[in-house]
Amino acid sequence: MVNNYLDLVAHFGIGGAHPGGFSLTKSILEDETIQPVEAVLDVGCGTGQTAAFLAQRFGCQVTAIDNHPVMVMKAKERFEINGSSVLVIAGDAQNLDLLDNSFDLLIAESVIAFTDISKTLYELSRVLKSGGRMIMIEMAAEQPLPEELRKKACSLYGIKEIPNEDEWKLKIQQAGFTHIETIDTSSEFIHSEITDINPSEIVNMDLYDLWDEHNRFITQNYDFIGFRAFRCRLP
Ligand SMILES: C[S@@+](CC[C@H](N)C(=O)[O-])C[C@H]1O[C@@H](n2cnc3c(N)ncnc32)[C@H](O)[C@@H]1O
Repeated sequence: MVNNYLDLVAHFGIGGAHPGGFSLTKSILEDETIQPVEAVLDVGCGTGQTAAFLAQRFGCQVTAIDNHPVMVMKAKERFEINGSSVLVIAGDAQNLDLLDNSFDLLIAESVIAFTDISKTLYELSRVLKSGGRMIMIEMAAEQPLPEELRKKACSLYGIKEIPNEDEWKLKIQQAGFTHIETIDTSSEFIHSEITDINPSEIVNMDLYDLWDEHNRFITQNYDFIGFRAFRCRLP
């Protein structure tokens, strides 16, 4: 299915394409204990900035999965250039071609909102080992959204819904996760800076207009649409 916003992120080759950007990723992951023996899955890895960081910083066994061919190509390119030993797979987060109970840690950064949320969360709980952890960063409604605004956001990002914090937690819980906590994120992460970019040789001009529209939208509506980072685990 075509998603113009995800095409934009792919063709601009934006790394850290999630609220808070790569600075938030690093600040969250630096608080985690991640062992070299651990198997980590970065689902919806985009161009692979977080996956590369995980492999280099913690020496863990990283698998990165994405269903956008341009993302997969750019992630592979990144890992080849910087010598990261990350296994890249083209695949759908809603229907993972991965064994049950195979990962110790899952990372999903601004991915699940673009999918059938419950289906993806269920798939993630299936591939996570018992006792394994998941970290996710996703957009969230800060207050009830006026209908016009909700429709605009859903059409701009090609999504079906924007859960608030409690609704996210309920969906995470319904997929079988426990110990669900909202990670305290400093207000400095509200505005994320783009520091990693790998544009395609040819970028459709429409995507530049969409980029402007996206920037205007988030600037005008951050009182309504923000994000939450969650940490949870499987019993
Ligand atoms: C906003 S980007 C975030 C990319 C990356 N996590 C980051 O933070 O830079 C969303 C990513 O999720 C991927 N994605 C969306 N739906 C997916 C699905 N069903 N299966 C796998 N990846 C998906 C997109 O292709 C895109 O790379």
